[in-house]
Amino acid sequence: MTRSAAVLVVLALAGVAPAADPAAERGYQALTGTGFNPAFWSVRSLGEAWKQWDGVTAKPADYDAALRERYGLHPAPYPNDGLPMGLRKGRLLLGTGIATDCMICHGGSILGTSYVGLGNSTLDIQALFEELARADDQSGKLPFTFTNVRGTNEADGFGVYLLGFRNPDLSLSGKWQDLGLRDDACGDVPAWWLLKKKRTMYHNGAIDARSVRSLMQFMMHPLNGPADFRKAEPAFRDIQQYLLSIEAPKYPFPVDLAKAAKGEALFLDHCARCHGTYGEKWTYPNKVVPLDEIGTDPIRHAAVGLDYGAAYAASWFGQEGAGWFVGGKPFRPTAGYQAPPLDGVWATAPYFHNGSVPTLAGVLNSTARPKLFTRSYRTGEADYDKDKVGWKVTELRSPPGEDVAAIERRKVYGTSQPGRGNGGHTYGDVLSEEERAAVIEYLKSL
Ligand code: HEC
Ligand code: HEC
Repeated sequence: MTRSAAVLVVLALAGVAPAADPAAERGYQALTGTGFNPAFWSVRSLGEAWKQWDGVTAKPADYDAALRERYGLHPAPYPNDGLPMGLRKGRLLLGTGIATDCMICHGGSILGTSYVGLGNSTLDIQALFEELARADDQSGKLPFTFTNVRGTNEADGFGVYLLGFRNPDLSLSGKWQDLGLRDDACGDVPAWWLLKKKRTMYHNGAIDARSVRSLMQFMMHPLNGPADFRKAEPAFRDIQQYLLSIEAPKYPFPVDLAKAAKGEALFLDHCARCHGTYGEKWTYPNKVVPLDEIGTDPIRHAAVGLDYGAAYAASWFGQEGAGWFVGGKPFRPTAGYQAPPLDGVWATAPYFHNGSVPTLAGVLNSTARPKLFTRSYRTGEADYDKDKVGWKVTELRSPPGEDVAAIERRKVYGTSQPGRGNGGHTYGDVLSEEERAAVIEYLKSL
């Protein structure tokens, strides 16, 4: 093996996709090496966060691991000053502090390996923001709920909340306008490697998938002004090229090829019209299925409404390219949810836009979905269910009481809660148990 081949193997093992295209390579460097937002917290707050942890009286011995486990973070597969993915050094008004970046939500791990672009299905971003602020002697009171249940987050709420402070040119308006903020959408983070197939993105397919500026919404930190957005746009153009270059990781366990071939035939009959076909000559119909047809929880669809859409389209974000959806603006209202491509779906549990179904077996049988459950929120082989494909869960009889700490209550997914319904998408129900198992075997191979 040549030296560079050896380097590639090491990179691949670390979950880093080495990008061939120079723009994509620049994008990877920008994404993993640049702080686009100023810091939220002091460096000290990170070292002293454990003082906020119930019942912990001394700094845990392996503090880095304890910190990752507390908040659901993963080791960075790139140089990151010893910080987990999603945290980075950033500027404070005086000196250096701790900022967050895209990978707090878009850096995940599966079977113990970290991947840039895998949604973080273990994150408790609420606890992270509350406790680091408190460790900095601030109140830690958040303006809205950042997450109701661990592994999901209110990313859509961030956009709606932050745009409410901006004029169309993205200067601060001095007063907050409610563009329809709600905090019960329970967003599951899509894998970035699906973007290359999509013409529209986000769960409702409302934005052109080649929009660069929409990727910059997370830069709406109060200290970033119009000039900062303009200056960062070329870097985000490169970041998009990197996102478009990411490949899904391959299922690492044996696949029964005969069974998968049976599953493929069933998939072509029952699923491909919405999810497309796979292999070298793949197709992807980019279909948005109306709410009353798909029947999954409607709240995410309502959470990003027309007030936000109009403000977005009128803002610098919406002035990106001519000839797109509405009046030349890269935003369109849609009637439902987009059927995503299923590449690497073995690695992206839990499923649906709200993460309400922990395994593919549940996706394919709507009567077998757990209603009230918890999981380890670790991502090792012991936590992974190879038969049902997804996360092992423990079903509960009753929800935790109010006396249980909020961080523990957020580890319980209750499908009767707002935004967390697990109904709908009943397309697998007509199949027999054996046929469903064959479809699952096929899905492992995508
Ligand atoms: C707080 C968590 C969070 C952060 C931080 C975050 N995202 Fe996301 N991202 C999400 C969620 C959740 C969605 C799905 C939103 C929806 O449609 O409801 C998403 C969707 C996306 C999509 C669309 C994917 C698709 O296939 O539909 C892209 C692209 C994306 N994010 C890029 C970025 C980039 C680039 C950054 C950093 C500048 C970033 N995100 C920061 C949570 C986050
Ligand atoms: C009529 C269109 C349609 C058909 C047919 C269909 N699906 Fe879907 N599927 C969707 C939509 C839309 C979603 C997203 C729903 C949501 O997130 O609320 C989805 C979501 C999924 C997901 C979850 C993806 C993720 O990452 O969360 C899987 C897995 C899936 N479908 C598999 C299948 C299989 C297998 C079949 C065939 C038995 C099938 N689907 C048939 C439209 C369809």
